[in-house]
Amino acid sequence: MIGQPLQLGPLRLATNLLLAPIAGYCDLAFRTICREQGGLGLACTDLLSPQGLLRGTATSLDLARTDPFDKPICMQLYGSDPEIMAQGARWAVEHGATVIDINMGCPVDKVTKKDGGSKLLCDLPRALAIARRVRGELDRCPLTQEQWAERLGSAARHGGGCVPLTCKIRLGWSTDEFEAGMACSPGLARALADEGVCAVTVHGRTTEMKFSGSVRLDGIARVVEAVSGKVPIIGNGDVRQPADAAAMIRATGCRGVMIGRGALSTPWIFRDAWQFQLTGRSPPPPSAEQKIELIRRYVELMRRNRDDRYALFQINRRISWFAKRLIDHDDTGKPIGVKPLKEAIRSAATIQDVHAALDQFAAGGLRGGFFELPDVATT
Ligand SMILES: Cc1cc2nc3c(=O)[nH]c(=O)nc-3n(C[C@H](O)[C@H](O)[C@H](O)COP(=O)(O)O)c2cc1C
Repeated sequence: MIGQPLQLGPLRLATNLLLAPIAGYCDLAFRTICREQGGLGLACTDLLSPQGLLRGTATSLDLARTDPFDKPICMQLYGSDPEIMAQGARWAVEHGATVIDINMGCPVDKVTKKDGGSKLLCDLPRALAIARRVRGELDRCPLTQEQWAERLGSAARHGGGCVPLTCKIRLGWSTDEFEAGMACSPGLARALADEGVCAVTVHGRTTEMKFSGSVRLDGIARVVEAVSGKVPIIGNGDVRQPADAAAMIRATGCRGVMIGRGALSTPWIFRDAWQFQLTGRSPPPPSAEQKIELIRRYVELMRRNRDDRYALFQINRRISWFAKRLIDHDDTGKPIGVKPLKEAIRSAATIQDVHAALDQFAAGGLRGGFFELPDVATT
């Protein structure tokens, strides 16, 4: 399965690599820069509230925003009411979705307290009822050939039919149950396939683990085994280097790999991980100038999609991720940090200040200091 494009029901992606939803980070601007780097088969919106979409709240509409380059696009819905989820899915299809995903893995209280996200792992009948109802609704709103052509993206292919449905799950809620071999994920994935879900993404952690510890490839492998090839399983968790995606496929038998935090620092990871699968080697990384251009491009896309204030807010919280790959080494191999660049961008009052800081960095300035890890990794 190494180097094989992923098939989602009737939809054939260009590669087997997917950009994960990361609430607050995987917006249209970020998806665009990942797509521009290459290798990305499918990108997902952050989790969307169907109620918000149906009411047309500004936040939900902004999160669901897409454009003709942002294809193919998966829209992820969360919630616990099958009927509302189905209406949300219809809305998403009517507003450009190529794939619909149901969030069954979010561990955040705000979501689980309302019985959505990974709380569904504790209520399998409800999880299946949602999948059944959403699948039924998608079957009632088939796309025309023209609509399909518009939302495929240049590299994807479609054999006709309705919008595919996927689900994103974790290994289970309880770590003790998982360790005892009683996790719900293998049975749930099998049952979801029976409901017409065309792929299941498995984040290889339990809800109790949140984002701690390491991803359990053995848990993903158990899900792969349980579905016996009926639908593809997409593995997810801790893919940070191009070789990690191939290693996950080898270790688990999954047919696709979803990458989240690895892409925040390395938006070209899809290109590299795909090339690694095809040739056993990754291309050389972008030059320092290209990395700086990529940051500028992100800022400008953010301005275009929203406004200067929001672009400033976003670059302020993301610069630590981008900066991870700007670190250089001196002649002795010692890392040269970029703390002054991060500080200059964090204190920028205008977009022009951001560009001026990047200019200074490009000219060899704003280097030094220690490297700090961004905090989103542990949220
Ligand atoms: C800040 C943050 C927000 C996230 N938001 C979502 C989300 O909206 N929907 C979802 O299914 N998963 C969400 N996730 C989980 C990721 O999609 C992914 O499963 C997880 O980060 C593991 O993959 P990674 O190691 O490649 O990041 C989020 C993760 C983080 C760290």
